Amino acid sequence: MELTIVKTENPKTMPPESELGFGKYFTDHMLVVEWSAEQGWYDAKILPFGRIDLHPASTVLHYGAEIFEGLKAYRRADGGVQLFRPMENVKRMNRSAERMSLPTMDEGEMLSLIEQFVRLEERFVPHSFGTSLYLRPFLFGNDECLGVHAVHRATFMLIASPSGSYYKEGINPVGIMIENEDVRTVRGGTGYAKCGGNYAASTRAGERAAKKGYSQVLWLDGVERKYIEEVGAMNVMFKIGGKIITPKLTGSILPGITRMSCIEVLKKEGYEVEERLFSLEELVSALENGALEEAWGTGTAAVVSPIGKLAIGDKEYVVGGGAIGETTKKLYDILTGIQWGKREDTYGWVYPL
Ligand code: PLP
Ligand code: COI
Repeated sequence: MELTIVKTENPKTMPPESELGFGKYFTDHMLVVEWSAEQGWYDAKILPFGRIDLHPASTVLHYGAEIFEGLKAYRRADGGVQLFRPMENVKRMNRSAERMSLPTMDEGEMLSLIEQFVRLEERFVPHSFGTSLYLRPFLFGNDECLGVHAVHRATFMLIASPSGSYYKEGINPVGIMIENEDVRTVRGGTGYAKCGGNYAASTRAGERAAKKGYSQVLWLDGVERKYIEEVGAMNVMFKIGGKIITPKLTGSILPGITRMSCIEVLKKEGYEVEERLFSLEELVSALENGALEEAWGTGTAAVVSPIGKLAIGDKEYVVGGGAIGETTKKLYDILTGIQWGKREDTYGWVYPL
C-alpha cells in the first residue's frame, strides 16, 4: 500500500518519563487509511496528530462499529526498538473485524504500516525499563447513513502513546471483586473480539469495584454465572497445588497474547497448565482451604498483575499472603526481560525494527 507522509510542523516535547502514566500523551503523528466497499483500502497516510472529522450519522457513533488493538514498542537495553509478537495483534485485529462486519486488511500490509509508523515516531519510545510506546490501531465504520447493516465505508487508524505502567501500583498486588451482576459478554457474542462496546459495557462494574476500594472485577460467564472468565481487561491465571489453571477460550474470553505467551513460558519452565472451565465454587473452596497459592492477570498493558485480595460478596480473602508469588514474579521477569531486550528470546517472539 502506498503511504503518503505529511510531517508535523510543530514537533512535541517528550514528557518526563517518570510522569508518563498510561495513554495520556500522544506522538506527533497518526496513521489513517480509508476503506470503501467499492475501492477496498485506499489513501494510506501519516498526518500530524489532530482531531478527526466525522459525519454525525457515522456508523461508529450510533451502532458501535469499532474495534481496536493494543501492543507496545519497547526500547531494548542496547538502545534499539522492538515489538513483541505483532503479527498476533494483526491477526486478532482481523478476527475482531470479521466479527463486527468491518473490513479485514492483508496481514503483511497491516504489519508494514505499523512498522513504518513506529519508525517515524521512534523518538517517542521511552528509555526506562517498564515504559514503552503503546500502539493503538483501531478501525471504525463511517457510513454516513442511519441504516443498520454491514458498513460500506470504514477508517483504519493508528495512534501511539508513550506510557509508563498501567496500574499506578506497578507490579504490586491488586484487590479484585467478583462481579455477579453485570457480565462482560456471552458465548456467541463479541467477547473474543476487541470491540469498543465490550469495554463500554464493562466500566459500570469497574466503577462499582473502585468505589469499594478494588482495582478491578473478576468476570463470571454470562450464561450460568458459574465459571471464571477474565479479570478486568486481562486474562486470569490461578496456581493451585503447584498447577496453573486458566479459563479455556470459550468464545466469550479475549484470546490474550500475553496469556498465550505465559502458557508457553510456564510449560517450558516445567509447570502443568490446565486450560479448562474453572468455577467460582472451585475458586472459593481453594480460598477456604488455603490451596490457592497465587492468582494473577495477564495483558499487554500491565504484563502480569498479581492479585493480592479477592472479595466475594462481603467476604474478603487474602491471596498468597498479599505478596507477589514466586510464579507470578518469574513470569513477569521472563516476559519483561524478553520484551525489553534484557534477556535472550529463545521463543522467536521479538520483532526488532
Ligand atoms: N482481555 C481483555 C478483555 C483485554 O482487553 C485484553 C487486552 O488486550 C486482554 C485480555 C489481554 O490481551 P493481550 O495479552 O493480548 O494484551
Ligand atoms: C491490556 O493491554 O491488557 C489491556 O487490557 C488494554 C486496555 C487499555 C484495553
